[in-house]
Amino acid sequence: MNIILIGFMGSGKTSTGRLLAKHLGYQFIDIDQIIEQKHGMTCAKIFAQRGEDFFRKQETTALKELHGLANSVIATGGGIILSADNRSFLKNLGTLIYLKTPPAEILKRVEHDTTRPLLPAEHKLDAINKMLSVRQPLYLAAAQIIVETCTGQPEKTAAEILRILQPVQAAAQEQR
Ligand code: S3P
Repeated sequence: MNIILIGFMGSGKTSTGRLLAKHLGYQFIDIDQIIEQKHGMTCAKIFAQRGEDFFRKQETTALKELHGLANSVIATGGGIILSADNRSFLKNLGTLIYLKTPPAEILKRVEHDTTRPLLPAEHKLDAINKMLSVRQPLYLAAAQIIVETCTGQPEKTAAEILRILQPVQAAAQEQR
């Protein structure tokens, strides 16, 4: 069983994922990091130099390379669910957990971050709301588990996920 964290930028997928992996003794995988290592540059630079379409293709390739993976916690980029192909692949890869963060909290976390290629320097909240109106229904439809991450404390989010996962994992073990 793999655990896959989905959600908007700044929802804490990477920090929560690391903690979860440590607690479960699972491997931690960050899809953005795989893309960055492959190209030797940050996601922001890939967007700037090659454009979003190129990035999305790399994202799908990196995702598909995880085929057959087990016992891993996977942090995804916020836009991975935009592709129907990615969504169906993710569904078969493991349990999808949506880290649901209110727009105002997302703004707090990304306000001074200049490395987010899809967020403009000004009117960030408008941009977040606009993107969320497209993405939130996709996150909600894809996820088996939804966790509210209003506090910005990955330890709390990880603890909440572990609590929810206990019966899920016990049931999965019984079926083996
Ligand atoms: C993106 C989110 C980023 C990264 C890329 C595109 C998006 O990941 O994949 O910049 O479309 O929301 P995080 O969600 O980890 O910031």
